[in-house]
Amino acid sequence: MIRLKTGSVMAGGVQMENHLILAAGVLGTTGSSLARILATGAGAVVTKSIGPFPHEGHPGPCFCEINGGLINAMGLPNPSKDFLTELDTLKGKPVIVSVFGGNPSEFHEVASWFKGRVSGVELNMSCPHAEGYGAAIGSDPGMIEACTKAVKSLGMPVWVKLTPNVTDITVCGVAAERGGADGIVAINTVKAMRISTDLMRPVLGNRFGGLSGPSIFPIAVRCVYELYEACSIPIIGCGGVSSVHDVVEMMMAGASAVQVGSAVIRDRDIFASIRDTLYSPDGIPAEEIVGCAHG
Ligand code: SIN
Repeated sequence: MIRLKTGSVMAGGVQMENHLILAAGVLGTTGSSLARILATGAGAVVTKSIGPFPHEGHPGPCFCEINGGLINAMGLPNPSKDFLTELDTLKGKPVIVSVFGGNPSEFHEVASWFKGRVSGVELNMSCPHAEGYGAAIGSDPGMIEACTKAVKSLGMPVWVKLTPNVTDITVCGVAAERGGADGIVAINTVKAMRISTDLMRPVLGNRFGGLSGPSIFPIAVRCVYELYEACSIPIIGCGGVSSVHDVVEMMMAGASAVQVGSAVIRDRDIFASIRDTLYSPDGIPAEEIVGCAHG
């Protein structure tokens, strides 16, 4: 098993304690849950997505478990600007705030609330089930570029989280890079649904949701691999990562850091167990494996 050298990491303009990051949406709604994940071995954490107005989200059921994953349709519930108070106890910690908006000025406004309070901003242009937000913005390369540019003008590190629900994800990655992004996060969930054969109706209140978990890992690896060939900014791999082997595979595809999401729901100590296996004082520099699977 490959072991990486212990030490802090810089990826996409953000200084982190290691390469492992809590993905947006999982245990990211309170300062105390974010602090807990940092204390149990994550190198950085991403918050739940925050938008321009407080929002309750989609009607339930919002969540269903399937073989090899989870489908969620939370609907971007968030307290909007009031989320700022959750950051009070996290000063100086590697926290990235996930933000969403329906146009460049909304993205700019929401991100501006967090200037000086976080290490960076992740733009959610990829939620697959939020009308007018998320993938509705992130399937349009012109909008990706304009929203990224608007947030970048604030002078903070900006990551753009992309949707896999497009024909060619590299077009979106290149648009984020043109807009001035410091990093690309790939991928958000895969649009999906289940139907209850007893009720003869969709399981989720919103009918459609986003599939996460081990079943999407090969899709995420493919997207990271393609983006690595098309873009020159760092890529943060995300999607179904649940073991140290997955982290190494993502890095070989081209990821400079790796997010873990759904796997945290089953194992709150997953960051510590991956970290303790991945790093060693006499390990190799991560640069030796990032993108090594490319010709
Ligand atoms: C949600 O809140 O519905 C999930 C967010 C996302 O998929 O980006």
